[in-house]
Amino acid sequence: MTDAWPANFLWGASTSAHQVEGGNHNDWSEWEKSHASYLARTARERLRDQSRFIGILPDQWESLLNEASQASNYLSGNAADHYRRFGEDFDIAKQLGHTAHRFSIEWSRIEPTAGHINQREIAHYREVIMALRQRNIEPLVTLWHWTLPTWVARQGGFANKKTIADFNRYVETIVTALGNDVNFWITLNEPMVYAATSYFQGYWPPQIKNPLTYYRVVNHLIQAHRLAYRTIKDINPAAQIGIAKNNIAFQVANRWPDNLLLAYTADWWWNRRFLRAIRRCQDFIGLNNYGRNVINHGYNKNPHQHTSDMGWELYPSALYETLQPLRAYGVPIYITEHGLADADDSRRAWFIAESLAGVRRALAEGVDVRGYLHWSLLDNFEWDKGFWPRFGLVAIDYATQHRTIRSSAETLSEIMRGAVGSNTRTSVN
Ligand code: FCB
Repeated sequence: MTDAWPANFLWGASTSAHQVEGGNHNDWSEWEKSHASYLARTARERLRDQSRFIGILPDQWESLLNEASQASNYLSGNAADHYRRFGEDFDIAKQLGHTAHRFSIEWSRIEPTAGHINQREIAHYREVIMALRQRNIEPLVTLWHWTLPTWVARQGGFANKKTIADFNRYVETIVTALGNDVNFWITLNEPMVYAATSYFQGYWPPQIKNPLTYYRVVNHLIQAHRLAYRTIKDINPAAQIGIAKNNIAFQVANRWPDNLLLAYTADWWWNRRFLRAIRRCQDFIGLNNYGRNVINHGYNKNPHQHTSDMGWELYPSALYETLQPLRAYGVPIYITEHGLADADDSRRAWFIAESLAGVRRALAEGVDVRGYLHWSLLDNFEWDKGFWPRFGLVAIDYATQHRTIRSSAETLSEIMRGAVGSNTRTSVN
């Protein structure tokens, strides 16, 4: 059976600068240096804590803990050396039939000190964009994927109002230099995840746990997007601009009023508030989805029938369930991230196929979905978890930087070519 997808549907994968490039100097690289031993020492404890929150402790964690207990796991260092190997990596994307690729520009490379623009780094990203264009791969360019130049971090990052103007100046510089070759700009990656994890839970730099600061950061990010939107439109009115928004399918374990109220509030605050606040300043929505949250009296009660290496539940319908409500915004939707940590590649093909069946269903119901970008093209540095989670369609041997295409990458290619129906049921091995 063949299954044609809409013409011009974009297919590909995503990365972010800090997670793949190597050689970055920013607030994260600084934090890694001072926290690597602590993160290694507390790996078991942190995994256990998380497992209480997200569910079952998978068997695999015992073996992954070997890697998670080493300080070197937490230093992004050379990462996947993508800064130098982007050509080789885009050859692989091309070979896999990808027609789009999402990557991010690293602000700390462009503006390492306040007001000093590094033209060589602009030239580098021009080469990256050209390398994609030469391969007929459409670039979706993220302007901020969480990392900050150290001088911006020192002034308080997005907790400081001044950063909004600084960010806008950086955006203006980039779009003036590269705007002719880019149709899709993603100003911010997952602003809600960033604000919550860095300023409410206090796990990520600058590790602040303050609900008021959290609230302020969210509002500053809303303003930063709005301003950047106008700046980009002024330079290139035809540009398509949006954010990459992490949305979660909130469900209830039963219809107790507290559960219903919490699910409604969580959906409003997490999924809708930011998108509503920028609704007049977005040409598309980038959806990042990693699952659902079944609420039971304030706790998570996901069944966890299938889990990723990180213990995240694999619930393929979440993609459909988060796509559907986005219809209300009346703009096209691109899935800008969706994936799982699966080192032995035993679940990825199944998860992709099942999730894409949901995308097909959304399309049939008239949801204007225009692309699917898997997270990630390459194995990469997963923030405070480090290198052990393996998200790549392409595996990286970090000792040699050798790339190996995982078999699930071929499955995705077959689905995109329509050679395999996305609603053909593949099984989890
Ligand atoms: C998303 C991030 C991305 C990656 C994936 C696993 O929240 O945007 O950088 O870490 O999760």
